[in-house]
Amino acid sequence: MKKIGVLTSGGDAPGMNAVIRAVTRAGISKGMDVVGIRRGYNGLINGDIVELNVRSVSDIIQRGGTMLYTARCAEFRYEEGLQKAKQTCIENGIEGIVVIGGDGSFRGAADLSARGILCVGVPGTIDNDISMTEYTIGYDTAMNTAMEMVDKLRDTAQSHDRCSVVEVMGRNAGYIALNTGIACGATYIITKEEPYTMNDVINKIIAGQKTGKHHFIIVVAEGIGNSEQIAKEIEQATGVESRATILGHVQRGGSPTVRDRVEASQLGYYAVELLSNGIGNRVVGLQNNKVVDYDIQEALKMTKSFDHKLYEIANEISF
Ligand code: F6P
Repeated sequence: MKKIGVLTSGGDAPGMNAVIRAVTRAGISKGMDVVGIRRGYNGLINGDIVELNVRSVSDIIQRGGTMLYTARCAEFRYEEGLQKAKQTCIENGIEGIVVIGGDGSFRGAADLSARGILCVGVPGTIDNDISMTEYTIGYDTAMNTAMEMVDKLRDTAQSHDRCSVVEVMGRNAGYIALNTGIACGATYIITKEEPYTMNDVINKIIAGQKTGKHHFIIVVAEGIGNSEQIAKEIEQATGVESRATILGHVQRGGSPTVRDRVEASQLGYYAVELLSNGIGNRVVGLQNNKVVDYDIQEALKMTKSFDHKLYEIANEISF
């Protein structure tokens, strides 16, 4: 392969820049030309392409966001969009592409691979909701950001004897909620993966009150929604003044952690290695701390487990 491209697609995640750096440098070191495709698949449709050299990716490993910009691209779901993208690749001599994003982005990568442009996916999303890998780029940074925010909320909840209901991101997955909850000593963690009733939450708070506890943290996963309503119900049932905070997009920003930078470098490198061997339609990930790769369609059919034991532990030690 003589020339490869790299793009970021879907929601940005800290560590995406570190992947772009790894892909660019690995590609060049293996004798290939590397280009950046801007704003996800839109850049392929519109021909928004920039040359990347070893220096264009200097000073980005520590930066959040993505220097290539990102977007979700509806047009790419249709044949016309895919054909335009293929044409751009042919005109620019792009034979392979590293796609950094989530499941939606990987569907596009599979479609383009089927049309002759070999793509390899690198999991980049704060949600950790990609089944073929135990870990996605951005997840660790997002959890650490959420943890810092909840620690700050605890200071004010403690000072006012309040209950702080904190909603964290994750789309439909409770991984950020579970880990942030246990790391912040939350009284209760509400996720879709674990059955709960409002009575369970309220009873846990009342049990805490009986042992002299005056402030409470309840972590709610994004897919549950209604954090304001949850806070209201807690206040009515327990008499503890309650406030809801939705952390939102702050969790997507910031300088990536060590883990995100290391995994980004490793997975980016491995994706290029596959392309340089003429292998596409794969997605790379981590299992038992080892790099693995799967056929994209196979990867999209996989399901991911939730750590029920960790949830039980969090519940049992949170008084
Ligand atoms: O997938 C990352 C994520 O931040 C989710 O946690 C969240 O549900 C979604 O993206 C928000 O998307 P948007 O950037 O379109 O608001």
